Amino acid sequence: PVLVVDFGAQYAQLIARRVREAGVYSEIVPHTATAEEISAKNPVALILSGGPSSVYEEGAPSLDGGIFDLEVPTLGICYGFQVMARALGGEVANTGLREYGATDAVIANDGGVLLGGQPSTQNVWMSHGDQVSRAPEGFEVLASTPDTPVAAFGSDDKGFYGVQWHPEVKHSDHGQTVLENFLHKAAGLASDWNSGNVIEEQVARIREQVGSARVISALSGGVDSAVSTALVHKAIGDQLTAVFVDHGLLRKGEREQVEKDYVASTGVRLITVDAADTFLGHLKGVSDPEQKRKIIGREFIRAFEKVQRDLVEEAKAEGEPIKFLVQGTLYPDVVESGGGTGTANIKSHHNVGGLPEDLDFELIEPLRTLFKDEVRAIGRELGLPEAIVGRQPFPGPGLGIRIVGEVTADRLEILREADAIAREELTKAGLDSEIWQCPVVLLADVRSVGVQGDGRTYGHPIVLRPVSSEDAMTADWTRLPYDVLSKISNRITNSVRDVNRVVLDVTSKPPGTIEWE
Ligand code: XMP
Repeated sequence: PVLVVDFGAQYAQLIARRVREAGVYSEIVPHTATAEEISAKNPVALILSGGPSSVYEEGAPSLDGGIFDLEVPTLGICYGFQVMARALGGEVANTGLREYGATDAVIANDGGVLLGGQPSTQNVWMSHGDQVSRAPEGFEVLASTPDTPVAAFGSDDKGFYGVQWHPEVKHSDHGQTVLENFLHKAAGLASDWNSGNVIEEQVARIREQVGSARVISALSGGVDSAVSTALVHKAIGDQLTAVFVDHGLLRKGEREQVEKDYVASTGVRLITVDAADTFLGHLKGVSDPEQKRKIIGREFIRAFEKVQRDLVEEAKAEGEPIKFLVQGTLYPDVVESGGGTGTANIKSHHNVGGLPEDLDFELIEPLRTLFKDEVRAIGRELGLPEAIVGRQPFPGPGLGIRIVGEVTADRLEILREADAIAREELTKAGLDSEIWQCPVVLLADVRSVGVQGDGRTYGHPIVLRPVSSEDAMTADWTRLPYDVLSKISNRITNSVRDVNRVVLDVTSKPPGTIEWE
């Protein structure tokens, strides 16, 4: 693999994703990995990520210098560029100058392998305090910016390159080309990582792992469980049973999508548990968000375990035990829970709606090495319905945490209608890829005065919370076109009973979270 050395912050994952977009398999390693450990992974190239520190700071993340003796093509980015410069005998100056955001980089010396053939001036995205003041011996300066004389360098002989800017962020023009030049030209790597290969490889691996045993999987309606279940089904067919718990907090049409479209496109054997009444019963009188989460999480486990017991009995009777459970764990979860030093602690994820930890099964995690966009690509390749594969993130506790106040059947019905309208209009306007997700929230404990028809009403506001994000850890509110907002507002207030007002949430995260509860 290409190894991305993580110096903290969130850059490493983004770099690893961009490398895969270039068709090359990549993995992330902590900066504390020794040259020996890195070498043992047989890297075909190394990329040193950016990070939040200054190389002069006390305890600044460092790197085993032996890594530069491995003779593996290496690209340093931002902090990684400075670490590389220092390790190879260049100089990094603590200038007190800071350079943030967009700036113009001017290519020098024809740009070498890394920047050759690109426009001589390009817009790049910077975020640094220190800067490389002298390139190491044998390196050519390949670019500079007004504030940074050595903004990129390289040595074709060694196969070592570095850039001060962040080629992995979309704000850097030609950023992807810089990465691809490094991968394809400098390191000579072919583009051969694609969803077809992943499927083949996983199917073979799953068959080998499972043998003739039985497997169980919990479908949530979300992308990860849908794709992991479909992959396992492709590998072992009816040795797999999928369980779908309908907790009554789903959005309009979601159950049908799973029961009809998903089953039709995969042929998965599915058991639906009708638990809406049970969940509502336990949620009665509860308004506190964390309390709701606890109840929903607990009831989910209870519902799942009930079917599981039946299935275990059935399988025993057939002489094949259920040995495995499918989990839709993705690579970011693996990296973040690995939490080696240098990885900023970014996700203490409230994965409510998950499965109990003490289940007596071995796990099958066919998506463990994949990023979300790759999972979607695989889902499409497997022929899953677009409505499922393209689905935006939706929390495990579902609409239960989008009703501010007590959850009742009546309120769920109102929210479900409003949410369906918002989703429909956003899709119609072609905005699905622009927004990360758009919670629609019912302020059930708030009433506002309205005038509808020829009467005065006293109804509830609906909040639209469209956000743009790369990973849900930070987000900005999406600037939706006014005509789309207007259409959504008109339709909701005209057709959803008890709603007489639609408001837009214009808060970034932080300080606001994405959900209201
Ligand atoms: P917040 O509201 O914390 O949400 O900004 C970040 C992301 O997590 C989702 N979310 C949840 N997902 N169980 C889940 O499985 C939960 O309890 C939960 N709460 C929030 C949220 O939709 C967003 O994508």
